[in-house]
Amino acid sequence: MEERERRFGEEGGTLSYGSYLRVDDLLAQQVLASDPAAHDELLFITIHQVYELWFKQLLHELTYARDAMVNGETYAPRHALGRCHVIERVLVEQVAVLETMTPQDFLAFRSLLAPASGFQSVQFRELEFLSGRRDPALVARLHLSDAERARLDRRLAEPSLWDAFCALLATRGLPVDGEETRRESLLAVARDRAAYGDLWDVAEALVSHDELVGQWRARHVDMVERQIGTKSGTGGSTGAPYLRRSLGVRFFPELWELRSYL
Ligand code: HEM
Repeated sequence: MEERERRFGEEGGTLSYGSYLRVDDLLAQQVLASDPAAHDELLFITIHQVYELWFKQLLHELTYARDAMVNGETYAPRHALGRCHVIERVLVEQVAVLETMTPQDFLAFRSLLAPASGFQSVQFRELEFLSGRRDPALVARLHLSDAERARLDRRLAEPSLWDAFCALLATRGLPVDGEETRRESLLAVARDRAAYGDLWDVAEALVSHDELVGQWRARHVDMVERQIGTKSGTGGSTGAPYLRRSLGVRFFPELWELRSYL
């Protein structure tokens, strides 16, 4: 068929861009609480929804990386974690978009948000639990639907990335019972990259994941302070002081401590 006779983008089937991606549904999800509409509320909703979509993708990739490590693989976790790093850099960068909102413009709708807060993001907690930061008490503090509670309970019960990495070391004959034994195994990996280069690369990919989540926490709290100063959060915490307490948290402290023993 001649190029000019074809109807570009409409050949065959019933599938279209909009129907495949459910664009109508997607664009119907940004429902403002302010009335009359506060100009910046659309940005506020959009950016949170974009974060939740990326959280979903991160959970998909990290679960895959975790399962691959449990199966003794090293290529698949390195590849999946590499993708996570790129997404996480986007998440850090994206904070700047929200910082184009002035504190005065945020105040036009902030009072309508309480008690909603990022503190209640179930997917963010899933990411923490999957990575190895597990606080069952937190589940009790959140107001969750049955489905959300089941998701978090499942994440608490299943192996974390750290558990999976230890299982991976064990499949290579490196003992992992007890912190001292693990340190010896990690030192063996670090000192013989000819034999264990793939394990070293997985360990480094985990450290980068840890570092990037830490960068997000730091970026988020600076943005929070820029928006609300020392006011308490809509979720009821002390706000920036509460958030700053998590800044030193590591998912894989033993990988960080290893440096001191090299
Ligand atoms: C104007 C912008 C924002 C402000 C002022 C803000 C403020 C806060 C505050 C004060 C908290 C502590 C809990 C509370 O009392 O509410 C918090 C927690 C949190 N926020 Fe934000 N936030 C903003 C944007 C975002 C965005 C765009 C995300 C992306 C999903 C996000 C995700 C989170 C998460 C995951 C937590 C829980 C952190 C933890 O418990 O360690 N926030 N936020």
